[in-house]
Amino acid sequence: MSNTLRLGIAGLGTVGSEVARLIQVEAPLHEKRSGKKLVVTAVSARDKNKKRDNGLSSLPWADNPSELAARSDVDAVVELMGGAEGAAKQLAEATLKAGKPLITANKALLAHHGLALSELARKQSAPLYFEAAVAGGIPIIKTLREALAGGQVDEIFGILNGTCNFILTTMRDTGRSFGDVLKEAQSLGYAEADPAFDIDGKDAAHKLSILSALGFGAPLEPEKLIAEGVRGITSQDILFADELGYRIKLLGVARQEKDGLFQRVSPYMVSTSSTLAHVNGAMNAIMIRGPVIGPLVLMGHGAGAGPTASAVLSDIIDCASGRQADGFASVMNPKATPLSAEKSKSAFYLRMMVQDQPGVLADITAIMRDAKISIQSVIQHGRSEAGPVPIVFITHDTSEKAFSEAFAAVKKLSSVLEPPCVIRILP
Ligand SMILES: NC(=O)c1ccc[n+]([C@@H]2O[C@H](COP(=O)([O-])OP(=O)(O)OC[C@H]3O[C@@H](n4cnc5c(N)ncnc54)[C@H](OP(=O)(O)O)[C@@H]3O)[C@@H](O)[C@H]2O)c1
Repeated sequence: MSNTLRLGIAGLGTVGSEVARLIQVEAPLHEKRSGKKLVVTAVSARDKNKKRDNGLSSLPWADNPSELAARSDVDAVVELMGGAEGAAKQLAEATLKAGKPLITANKALLAHHGLALSELARKQSAPLYFEAAVAGGIPIIKTLREALAGGQVDEIFGILNGTCNFILTTMRDTGRSFGDVLKEAQSLGYAEADPAFDIDGKDAAHKLSILSALGFGAPLEPEKLIAEGVRGITSQDILFADELGYRIKLLGVARQEKDGLFQRVSPYMVSTSSTLAHVNGAMNAIMIRGPVIGPLVLMGHGAGAGPTASAVLSDIIDCASGRQADGFASVMNPKATPLSAEKSKSAFYLRMMVQDQPGVLADITAIMRDAKISIQSVIQHGRSEAGPVPIVFITHDTSEKAFSEAFAAVKKLSSVLEPPCVIRILP
């Protein structure tokens, strides 16, 4: 048995270059913890001529990342390129087919092809590790797969996208608009030039899908998961949330209910009595509840070179130590039926901009009454003869179906002047 683990790394960007740096600077620690020397023997990225630090430019180079899988001097492959298809998928398949361990941080790849890759991994007896794929430095994958393996989990929910949390927190702290804070997030490197993936909830949906598969055995189908983002949230909603004792957070929520598994990514009103309400800036936090463990909260940096590379290294050390990981194959549950959206229930915050004239409130409450929606409270501040005024309804628990019917009718009222804002209230 060799005392060295020879690694091929594909992807030398934010995460890949930090992984390579840590392998150098923490070598004695890694060897002590895993019993093996970690050595990078070959690399691949898009541009061979790019100047790279930490000796990466002088390492043997693979023009096509998939070549790493076949090299006789590579024992395990680390995929840090990203993307659900193309080079990343080809490399993942080639590695597992070659019977070699695959370590990846690629949530898009896993959310779309995690089950097929797990089956391939199992067939080839090749381990598949992906601690860095969800919530960066938070060890949520090992927590679900190993630490909580002894009992059921009822609920997994949390702040899975740091960009959105940064935007919502900064809007609250500064009173600035969504668009303005989004620009700041981009200039700080939190949001991509095209931020749609983050702010429309797709990134969080990939992560929730992976967590639901691990926690509940749910099928990996991120495209079927309801995902709403934070574009519609205004400073006014943040002020109303404060007044009502909530903070607005973009959450991924997966909860086992009687009729199936509820899954959703959307903005939620979170009570200020909850730990999640106080998770600020670009931080992530995940809460797990189970009948045996009760509540458990994990909080930390969900992205960034250091935290993500630290998670990748924990997988590399598991691999070097011979600790196995079979992806999703052992957790999938054919009976994990997703709950149809119409069957789920929630309390709602509904903010409308209305014309300040007699009868408006009566029209809206009549629609609610006809949909059998019970109102918990109504807030209206100030008067304006010239422009629209905000009016907020908080409902008691109501079905999605009843609420969406009432919402469609409210939007059609001529006195409702702008698209209303709907935010679910976290129970
Ligand atoms: N950044 C984070 O905070 C974070 C957090 C959690 C998970 N992740 C995941 O980690 C992975 C890497 O993210 P990153 O932020 O490090 O990305 P990045 O900075 O954009 O780096 C991507 C690297 O992959 C290479 N690459 C991209 N497409 C390629 C292709 N078709 N063929 C060969 N090489 C290719 C690039 O080559 P060049 O250098 O030549 O351009 C670059 O070295 C992604 O799956 C991401 O979702 C990232």
